[in-house]
Amino acid sequence: MARDTVRLVRRVDFEASHRLRVHSLSEAENRERFGRECDLHGHNWALCVGFEGQVDPVTGMVVNIADVDDFLRAHVVAELDHRRLDLDHASFRDVPPTAENVAVWVWARIGRPFDGVALVSVQVREGARAEAEYRGEPGRVDGTQMVELTRAYEFSASHRLHSDDMSDDENRALYGKCNNPNGHGHDYRVEITVRGPVACETGGVVDVPWLDALAQREVVDRMHYRHLNTDVPELNGMAPTTENLTRAVFDLLAPAFEGASADLRRVRVYETPKSWFDCEAEST
Ligand code: NI
Repeated sequence: MARDTVRLVRRVDFEASHRLRVHSLSEAENRERFGRECDLHGHNWALCVGFEGQVDPVTGMVVNIADVDDFLRAHVVAELDHRRLDLDHASFRDVPPTAENVAVWVWARIGRPFDGVALVSVQVREGARAEAEYRGEPGRVDGTQMVELTRAYEFSASHRLHSDDMSDDENRALYGKCNNPNGHGHDYRVEITVRGPVACETGGVVDVPWLDALAQREVVDRMHYRHLNTDVPELNGMAPTTENLTRAVFDLLAPAFEGASADLRRVRVYETPKSWFDCEAEST
């Protein structure tokens, strides 16, 4: 991003129902691909739309937020809000309204409505546990778009911050109350971000039941209602800080993505709503 450029993100919300199906697949194949998303249900959706441009020297704005809201309401939200996306929306009768496909549709729908201002990201949040982000791809012509999908999982665990490489006094001084010998605990939230091509006909970066089963097996089953210092071998010999936990989760998940159609891009672990830690794959 150029030094004189600023990015702004505006969020607008809508409510809609959907059911995910690919018409050419059998019932069993659809269920394997989409899991419970095959059944009719609804979500609170949020669109976070990013624009970049130069700051106007008179107004101090990249673009007037009121104009962004007016545009998004008239051209995007009006098409999605209080609809059943797979029936009431012409664009999603033949392609399933996954978060990935909705993000690609919103991107195309927005286009370039403001002079000198570029659309740079469309993030579609489907409920509290899934979101897709599309950042466009000028010139891509093979009918697939690269989209990031993030899904969230939770587990509850106890830990004690303590390093065997320091004395008891040093541990107490560094970690404070987190060094309590009997430990303390958190409700952790783990967000897994994968990136891959989306073929519009199927609408998924990855099979969601596969990702959910992977997260369940490698993260939740290993850590839920456990004591991280003693019960998780991957953390043996190190202080179970959330930095180390985030790295351990990334390393537990990564082997499953070898040869997969999507890449593991990022693991984010929230220790509390006020602090979170990211471990990212190297840029490709
Ligand atoms: Ni859904």
